[in-house]
Amino acid sequence: MIGCGTVGSGVLDLLQRREEDLTRLLGRPIRVVRIVVRNPSKPRHHLASLISSGVEISGEPRRVTRDPGVELVVELAGGRDEPKTWILDAIEHGRDVVTANKATLAFHGAELFAQARAKRRCIYYEASVAAAIPIIEMLSNGLVANQMTSLSAILNGTCNYILTRMEFANLDYSAALAEAQAKGFAEADPTLDVSGGDSAHKLALLAGIVTRSHIPVESIYTEGLERITREDMEFVRQFNYSIKMLAIAKRNDQGSWELRVHPTLIPRSEILAQVRDEFNAVYMKGDAVGPMLIYGKGAGGLPTASSVVADIVRAAKGERGTPNAHMGVTPALVPIERIELRNYIRMTVLDVPGVLGRITSFFGMRHISISSIHQPEARVNQPVPVVLLTHKTSEHVVAEALRDLETARLLTRAPTRIRIEE
Ligand code: HSE
Repeated sequence: MIGCGTVGSGVLDLLQRREEDLTRLLGRPIRVVRIVVRNPSKPRHHLASLISSGVEISGEPRRVTRDPGVELVVELAGGRDEPKTWILDAIEHGRDVVTANKATLAFHGAELFAQARAKRRCIYYEASVAAAIPIIEMLSNGLVANQMTSLSAILNGTCNYILTRMEFANLDYSAALAEAQAKGFAEADPTLDVSGGDSAHKLALLAGIVTRSHIPVESIYTEGLERITREDMEFVRQFNYSIKMLAIAKRNDQGSWELRVHPTLIPRSEILAQVRDEFNAVYMKGDAVGPMLIYGKGAGGLPTASSVVADIVRAAKGERGTPNAHMGVTPALVPIERIELRNYIRMTVLDVPGVLGRITSFFGMRHISISSIHQPEARVNQPVPVVLLTHKTSEHVVAEALRDLETARLLTRAPTRIRIEE
């Protein structure tokens, strides 16, 4: 095992708890023989019994990737580029690999899967997306008979936790993030969570499975939730919406895919609006099965470890996966500018005569149709929020209108725009 933090400790815990059952199931025990950690001299009381039973703790990944006594390498260290070299080294030395590392696979998956294929090795990665939810298994096997046509997913537990706490406990963004970190949901660098990067890594992997190709993570439009405030929460509540960080993949009739990650307003009655705290969910559609929903814990030590152990068991059973899974041609992707959506736009203006008229004229000039406009009671010459909801409008038109508004210096600070999905 490389890495022994929150998830690694969960894996050791589960292997111990389920030892008897798994040994019976497989006809042989699963034994951890070596663990690589960044700082091997740090006291680790939870590993005491493993150390006394002969498990080696070292700081050298090659002790795991190259040791002839190791059959399977479990990479749980996190990071992006360094794990790639360990995974390649393990494959080169004839080992299969289990990893929970979505960043490494999203950025280097094409090379890693090709290398595994060339060496007839397997990379198992169930835990890399949506932690406890076996979504990789479902899309790779259970739903393989379908042309999947859309996925709308909550794929980051930290973002969902933050938004839930802002919505229901009235916390501000930083307090909610601090709670998510304290609960062990966030990445070591939480910027990856809140910037939407982590969701984009996961969407790249899911879209790669359904399109049987490598989806470059850079091709996914990604926007974070850092700008969402309690004020937005209050407005959207009045309009009967919730804000969710959604990862969206949609196939059009020509076979091109829309891939995007951004905060999204969805009606409170929608099923995804009921997904709270660190839970993840994937609402998907396939041409044979129609709509389908899967829901479960998307972050945390044991929920993630559950999927890691499932992969260890798959590897021990010799399940080989699908060799050509990622070898197809990447489909055409629809650029974000070509997408049409409804929008929530919150602006802050000075309460002076004519300001509303001037603002709305910026939208009117570009034929952006406003479906409603809201402004709380204001005090003369004081900043006041104005919120517009638009009808469906092309992305590039909204972006141009917002740019013009900023240039015209009508706003006292940058506007917040959140896309709406019905
Ligand atoms: N930081 C991730 C999340 C953990 O919050 O979803 C699981 O990938």
